[in-house]
Amino acid sequence: MANKNLNKAKEAKKDEFYTQLEDINNELRHYREHFRGKTVLCNCDDPRVSNFFTYFAYNFEFLGLKKLITTCYKNQERDLFSQGDCEKAIYLVYKGDKNGNRIPDPEEIGIHPLKGDGDFRSAECIELLKEADIVVTNPPFSLFREYVAQLIEYDKKFLIIGNQNAITYKEIFPLIMQNKIWLGFKSGDMSFQVPSDSEPRATRYWQDDSGQKWRSMGNICWFTNLDHKKRHEDLILYKKYSPEEYPKYDNYNAINVNKVSEIPYDYDGIMGVPITFLDKYNPSQFEIVGCTESEGKGLSNGLHNAQNSVKQPIIGGVRAYKRIFIQPANTRLRILP
Ligand SMILES: C[S@@+](CC[C@H](N)C(=O)[O-])C[C@H]1O[C@@H](n2cnc3c(N)ncnc32)[C@H](O)[C@@H]1O
Repeated sequence: MANKNLNKAKEAKKDEFYTQLEDINNELRHYREHFRGKTVLCNCDDPRVSNFFTYFAYNFEFLGLKKLITTCYKNQERDLFSQGDCEKAIYLVYKGDKNGNRIPDPEEIGIHPLKGDGDFRSAECIELLKEADIVVTNPPFSLFREYVAQLIEYDKKFLIIGNQNAITYKEIFPLIMQNKIWLGFKSGDMSFQVPSDSEPRATRYWQDDSGQKWRSMGNICWFTNLDHKKRHEDLILYKKYSPEEYPKYDNYNAINVNKVSEIPYDYDGIMGVPITFLDKYNPSQFEIVGCTESEGKGLSNGLHNAQNSVKQPIIGGVRAYKRIFIQPANTRLRILP
């Protein structure tokens, strides 16, 4: 039992990463028009320390928000980091500046108790979700699938941080294919503050002069269903197709493209491209058809040769990295009689 509890605590610790205000600011500036008159929910955020709460509270008037709701998971203490050791939780409601100083003063913020621990899946947190127009946060990585499923179930607009590995989760990729989720602006490296009792690591871990511990990850991105400018920018293509340079896979009915920048401008068929393509994806330019079955059975949408038991893409007998399958968006129209 003691071991089980220890493991549970260790698992919970893995979710304790705190997003920097600068990263929030840099992403959110691309979505300003979506927020006017809206209720925003940050539902994995200790409001006294979350930079998501800080961002929306301090930009409340600038964004023209209607209401900000922030829920805090398992902790009412005033220390910087949630230790997940208190089963009670609270939520905060901010409806904007009342005294004209344009600062969210404590007396302007309503603090309400929650009956449970503030789990985003609990009935009382779902009631708050129903009230929200847009959900913005960095949710626990370990519950990412469930977190996104809930947002989709309640038909919410959202902008959330996740790991790029989630792109090919079998629960997430179909949503990307159906254009129900796409990537935001920033993808790649991001640094997060971590709790003071975090274990040191060999790489991507450091302590700053103040003693604050940090971790960075190279594969972080924003997932959203809010439209943005970058999603409508065409990728400039300059390479001409040749069968020598773009061989067909041994086990998928598509040609291989090694670099997103080298997608040929004159190939109408299906192409396997690196996952990083999603960062440049414009649905008016390309359609996503599937991905390699190493990510989940059936995800290639029939492109995989069932005679071949290998799910990773193979080119001339050599295994390659996982791929997303795309084709030019207007191909279907062009091949109609
Ligand atoms: C990756 S951290 C990000 C924290 C904060 N959103 C930020 O960006 O700084 C995820 C947070 O979700 C909280 N959390 C874990 N499980 C949760 C759950 N079931 N419901 C709500 N929050 C949860 C964790 O305590 C943790 O603080």
